[in-house]
Amino acid sequence: MADTNALRPVLDRIDRELPRHRSALESLIRIPSVSAPGFPAAEVRRSAEAVAAMLSKIGLRHVRLLQIHDSHPYVVAEWLEAADAPTVLLYAHHDVQPPGHIERWTSDPFVPVERAGRLYGRGSSDDKAGAVIHAAAIDAWLGAEGTIPCNVKVLIEGEEEIGSGHLSAFLERHGDELRADVIVLADAGNWSVGRPALTYMLRGLTDLLVRVRALAAPQHSGMFGGVLPDPALALSKMLASLVDERGAIAVPGLCDDVRPPTDAERARLASLPFDEPSFRRAAGLVGSARLIGNPERSLFERLWMQPAITILGIDSHPIAGSSNQILAEAAARVSLRLAPGQDPRRCQQVLADHLRRVAPWGLEVEVDLSHEAAPAWVCEPTGPAFDAAEAALTTAFGVPPVYMGVGGSIPFVGPFAAAFGGAPALLTGPSDPGSRIHSEDESLQLDDWHHHCHAEAILLTEIAERMGKKLVKG
Ligand code: BES
Ligand code: MN
Repeated sequence: MADTNALRPVLDRIDRELPRHRSALESLIRIPSVSAPGFPAAEVRRSAEAVAAMLSKIGLRHVRLLQIHDSHPYVVAEWLEAADAPTVLLYAHHDVQPPGHIERWTSDPFVPVERAGRLYGRGSSDDKAGAVIHAAAIDAWLGAEGTIPCNVKVLIEGEEEIGSGHLSAFLERHGDELRADVIVLADAGNWSVGRPALTYMLRGLTDLLVRVRALAAPQHSGMFGGVLPDPALALSKMLASLVDERGAIAVPGLCDDVRPPTDAERARLASLPFDEPSFRRAAGLVGSARLIGNPERSLFERLWMQPAITILGIDSHPIAGSSNQILAEAAARVSLRLAPGQDPRRCQQVLADHLRRVAPWGLEVEVDLSHEAAPAWVCEPTGPAFDAAEAALTTAFGVPPVYMGVGGSIPFVGPFAAAFGGAPALLTGPSDPGSRIHSEDESLQLDDWHHHCHAEAILLTEIAERMGKKLVKG
C-alpha cells in the first residue's frame, strides 16, 4: 500500500487547488455540450476546447482534438516521461444529455449552483466532474512533485451520450497512440454518498423505432370510430405485449442468449446490502408503486444481468390541441438494455419481428433498426489493477469500495480493453444514486468528488507500485 505520508504534498495540492478545479468544472457546466442531434454541435466543440485548455494548463503534452468524419471532437493528451512505468489511459466524456424539461429544474441546467453540499447542473456528475477528476490528479502530481508515477494518456470523448457511433473507426485510427496497460474510467458512480464503488459490469444497449400506420389522414372519430382501426391503440397493444403482468420481458426468444450468473457472480451479488426503502427513495418512486420484474431473480441480477425494455418516446397527437379524430399513425422509440451474453443485432431483430407479429388489425408496420448497438461488458474484478484501485479508494474515502454492476452502458470500455490485449478497466466515478444523471436537477456530491480526486492521485502511484514495469508505449 502506498505511503500516505509520502503522498501528503500531492494530496495537499488537491486540497489547495480545489477552488480552481471547482471553477473549471463550473465553466464546463456552463457550456451546453449536448451531443444529441438537433442541438448545436458548436457547443460540443467549445466544451472540447475548454477541456483541452484545462489539460494544457496542468502540464499535459500534445493536447489535441481528434475527429472521425463529422464526429464530435475527442480531446486527447499525454505525459509519457515515467520511463518504464506502466501506462494508464484516463477516460471521461465532455458531452451531456439534453436538459429535458427546463421548467422542471430548480435552477438553470447550465448555470452551476450549490445547494446543501451538492453542485447542480447538467453534466455536473455525468461526466464533466469525471474529466476534472483526471485533471486534478495529474495537476496534483505535476504541481507537487514535477512528475507522475505512471505514463498517462487522457481521452475525453464528445459523443458518449449518443452511443459513441464513431468508436470503432476511432479505435482503428488512434488505438495505437492510446495504447495503455490499464484504463481508468471516471464515468460510473459511487455505491452511495460516502461509499465508493468499483464497477465491473455494464449492460449493453440498443434501440429501434416502430411506426404503425392506419390511414392516409386523420378521420372524424364519431363518423368512423368503432370501425376504423386506431393506430395509437394498436401501438399501445403492441407495446403492452412486451412485458407480462409482473413487468418482466415477455418477448419470446429475447432472453434466450442471456448468460446466467456464474457462481462467483451470484455470490458477489448476494453479498451486497440491499435496502429497499432507500432504493425507492433515491429513485423517487411513488409510494403506491411496486418494483417490477421476475421476483425470483434478485434485484441486482435484474438491474445488471437481465435485459430491460424502456419506451423512450411515443409520437401520436399531443393532448394539447387534440380533437375528435382517429390519428393516421403512431410511433414509439423502444430501448433495450442488453444483458451479458446477448447479441445486440439478434436481440434487435427478435424485438422487431415480435412487434410486426403482434401488430393488430393488419396495420402497416415500419421498424427502423439502423441504430447503434453496444453489447454488455463484464470482467473479473481481481488482479493487481483492482488491488490498486481498492487500496486507493479505501485510503481516500476511509471505507472500501463496493464491487458493483451498473445497468447503464459505456460503449468505450469493451472495445478498448480488448484492443489493448485485455487490459484491465477500472470504472469509478463521481455520481451516486441521488445524482439524477440524465434527469432534471442532476447534481454532484462535492465531498465525494473531492475524495475521488484524492483517490485517483493515489491510484497512479498504487498502479506504478503494483503493476511493475510495463512497456506499452507510444
Ligand atoms: N455515465 C453513464 C453510464 C452510467 C449510468 C454509469 C449509471 C453509472 C451509472 C453514461 O454516460 C451513459 O449514460 N451512457 C449511455 C450510453 C448509451 C448512449 C450508449 C446510457 O447508458 O444510456
Ligand atoms: Mn456518463
